[in-house]
Amino acid sequence: MMRITLRLIASLVIVAASVSFIFSGLQARQEQAHLEQELSRRAAVLAESLQESVEPLLDGGKLDGLHRLVERFADRERLAGVAIYRGDRQPMAMSPRLPVEFQIAPETARQALDGGGAVAGFLTLQGQRWHLQAVPVRAPAGPPGALVLFHNADYIEARGAAVWRHNFLRLLLHVLLISLTTLLIVRWYLTRPMAKTVEWLRRLRIGEPADQGALPHEGLFGPLAREVTHITKTLTVARAAAEEEARLRHTGASRWTPERLKEHLRTTLEGRPLLVIANREPYMHVRQGRQVRWIMPASGLVTAMEPILRACGGTWIAHGAGDADRETADGSGKLRVPPDEPMYTLRRVWLEKQEEDGYYYGFANEGLWPLCHIAHTRPLFRAEDWRHYRQVNMTFAQAAVEEMRGMERPYLLIQDYHFALLPRLIREKRPDARVALFWHIPWPNPEAFGICPWARELLHGMLGADLLGFHTQYHCNNFLDTVDQTLESRIDWEQFAVNRAGHTTWVKPFPISIPVEEPPGGEGPAADAAVAKEAVLKELGLQTRWLGVGVDRIDYTKGIAERFRAIERFLEHYPEFQGQFVFVELGAPSRTLIPRYHELGAELDAEAERINRRFQTRAWKPIVFLQRHHSHEAIQPYYRAADVCVVTSLHDGMNLVAKEYVAARADARGVLVLSRFAGASRELRDALLVNPYDVEQVAAALHAALTMTPEEQTERMTRMRELLRERNIYRWAADLVAELARLRPVRERLTNQG
Ligand code: F6P
Repeated sequence: MMRITLRLIASLVIVAASVSFIFSGLQARQEQAHLEQELSRRAAVLAESLQESVEPLLDGGKLDGLHRLVERFADRERLAGVAIYRGDRQPMAMSPRLPVEFQIAPETARQALDGGGAVAGFLTLQGQRWHLQAVPVRAPAGPPGALVLFHNADYIEARGAAVWRHNFLRLLLHVLLISLTTLLIVRWYLTRPMAKTVEWLRRLRIGEPADQGALPHEGLFGPLAREVTHITKTLTVARAAAEEEARLRHTGASRWTPERLKEHLRTTLEGRPLLVIANREPYMHVRQGRQVRWIMPASGLVTAMEPILRACGGTWIAHGAGDADRETADGSGKLRVPPDEPMYTLRRVWLEKQEEDGYYYGFANEGLWPLCHIAHTRPLFRAEDWRHYRQVNMTFAQAAVEEMRGMERPYLLIQDYHFALLPRLIREKRPDARVALFWHIPWPNPEAFGICPWARELLHGMLGADLLGFHTQYHCNNFLDTVDQTLESRIDWEQFAVNRAGHTTWVKPFPISIPVEEPPGGEGPAADAAVAKEAVLKELGLQTRWLGVGVDRIDYTKGIAERFRAIERFLEHYPEFQGQFVFVELGAPSRTLIPRYHELGAELDAEAERINRRFQTRAWKPIVFLQRHHSHEAIQPYYRAADVCVVTSLHDGMNLVAKEYVAARADARGVLVLSRFAGASRELRDALLVNPYDVEQVAAALHAALTMTPEEQTERMTRMRELLRERNIYRWAADLVAELARLRPVRERLTNQG
C-alpha cells in the first residue's frame, strides 16, 4: 500500500510541477514584457521633454548649461544618466557615473543621429542590462547631436527571477499539502477500511464471530461491503446447511433441507421447472422519491413460498402491483429474483385498475375473505366484482399456459382464494397438467359458504385441480361437506376425494410452515435476547423490564383491538407491571383501499391511544403501535428481544408469525401466546393457547407468560422448535409435490375403471 501511495504522490507532484513550470515561464515573460514597455514609455516621455531643454543650450555652445543638466539627471531612480553626443559620436556632456564605454556614442545614438528620429533599445554591458533612449537634438544654427537617456534595466531581469522564486516556493507548499492530503485520504478511506474488511474476512474464514458493524458501510467501500455482507450471508447459510446436513446424516435423522428438497423435486418433476401462481408477488418494485427500490410484501404466503423457489428455481407468476414494477421487468413481464441474488423467475401479470379493484379488493377481499373467516365482517358480493374475478382468473390461466409451452405434464402449484376458478381453466387448456390448489385461509362450514351467490361456480372451478390443500383436516372436512351439499359429485370419505364428471380431486391437509435456519454454532445463549432487547429499546427510546411483541398485517381478522384490550386488562389486574411492560405492535398497512381496512388503522390508533392515556407516565407508555412496512430483517430483533409474542387472530388459516417467533428463538426462551382459532394452534401445543375474544383469559395468559420460569420457557420452546424443524416449509413443499405426483396415476386408473 505504501508503494502505491508513493507512486500516487509522485504522479501528483510531477503533474503539479509541470503545470507550475509552464505557468511560471509564461508569467515571468509577461511581467518582463510589461516592465520593458513601461520603461520604454517613461524614457520616451522624459527624452522628449529633455530634448526641448537641451536644444536652446546647444545654441551658442553653452556647455556649462549642458553639464549642469546631465549632472541633474544622473542617478535618479532607475535613470543612471544622460549624455549628449555630437555628430562625431564624441560626448558634449555626460553624467559622471556612466561607464567609460559610453564615452563613445552607442549604436542607438548613432541611429538617432542618422535617422533623425527617436530610437530605443536594450544592451548588455559587463553583465549589466541597459535601456537606451536616444533622440536627435539640434540648435537652429548648430550641428546635429543626440540626447541619450541611460536606464538601468537590471530590475526587469530581477523581477522575472522573483516570479520563478515565488512560484517555486508555492510549488513546494503544494507538494507538501498534496503529499499530506494523499497520505490521509489513502489512510482513512482506503487503508483502514481495507484492513477492516480483510480482518473481517479473515475472521469469517477461520470461523470466528465477525461483527457486521465492523465493516465500512459508507463511502468508497460501501458497495463492496454490501456485496461482501451478502456473500457472507449466503456463505453462512450454506455452511449452516452443510453442518445441518452432516449432523442429520450423523444422527440418522431425515430432516428436510433446501438441498434435499431440490434433489427431491428434480427427481419427482423429472427436470421440469416448478410453476407457482399467487396473486402476491415476492418482490415488488416501488418508487421512493426519485429512486426505485424493492420490498418483500408482508405476506405469510410470501414468507412460506419464497424459500421453496429459492431452493428449487422455477417461475412464480403474480400480479405486478408495484408502481415501478413495469420498468423493472422485461417485455413479457419477467425478471430474475431475488433482485440482489437471482435464483428464479418472477413473471408479472399486468391488470387494469378496474380489474384489480373488482378481482382483488372486491371479490377476493370483500367477498371471499370475510366469507371464509369467521370474524363478523359481512361479505360483500357484487356482480361486477365477480365478472372481474372471472376475467382475471382467465388472464392468469393464459399466462400459465404460456409458461407451460413446450413442457410435457407440467406441474402447477396455485395459491389461495384469488384463483378458485383457475384449476378448471387450466385443465381445459392443458389436460395433461398436474394441478394443485393450496387454500391459505380457513374453509367455513357449508351454511356459511352457501351465502355466496357463486358458490357452485367456485367449487366447480376448484375441483378442476388434482389436489386441494388446506392447513388443517378440519378445513378439508368443511370443504368436502360444502361440496356434498352444493354440487352433484361422488365423495370418497375414506380417501378424502371428490369425483365429479370423471375427474378426481384429492383433498388433504398440508400445514404450511417456514424455513427454520439453524444459527451457526447451534442454539445461542440467553444473553442474545438481552442484547437484542437493549438494541430494540434503544432504537425506540424506551425503558422497560418486559417486552411484548405483535406482528401483523393490519387486518380485522388478526384481533389486534382485542389484544390491546387484553393488555389494558392485564395492567389493571397486575398493576405491578405498570411502568415495567411495553407491548410493541408492528402493523403493516394492508388492503387500505377497502374502507373496512382503512378505518381499522385509525380505530387501532385510537384504541392504543386511549389505553396509553389511561396508564402512561412521563417516561413510559404500555403500547407502541408502529403502523408501517417492516422488512423481515427488521422484525427479527423484536422476536429475539420479546419476552412474549402475542398472536390473537379471531380466525386464521395458519398464522406464520407464531412460527416465526419460535424459529427466531435460538436461545429457547420467550413465550408464545396463541389464539386457538389460528391453524398454528394445532401444532404449537406448547404455546399458551387462548380465546382472543376472552379478554380476561388473554390478560391471564400474559401474566403467566411474564412470570413463567426460564426452565419452563426453555422446555416449551425447545419442543416447539423441534416440531418446526421437523415440519418446515421444505417438507411442506416436498409432501405437496410428492402427493401431486403420486395421485395422478391413481386418478388415471380410477378414471379408466369408471
Ligand atoms: O392469509 C391469506 C393471504 O392471502 C395470504 O396468503 C397472504 O399472505 C396474506 O393473505 C396477504 O394478503 P395480501 O396479499 O392481500 O396482502
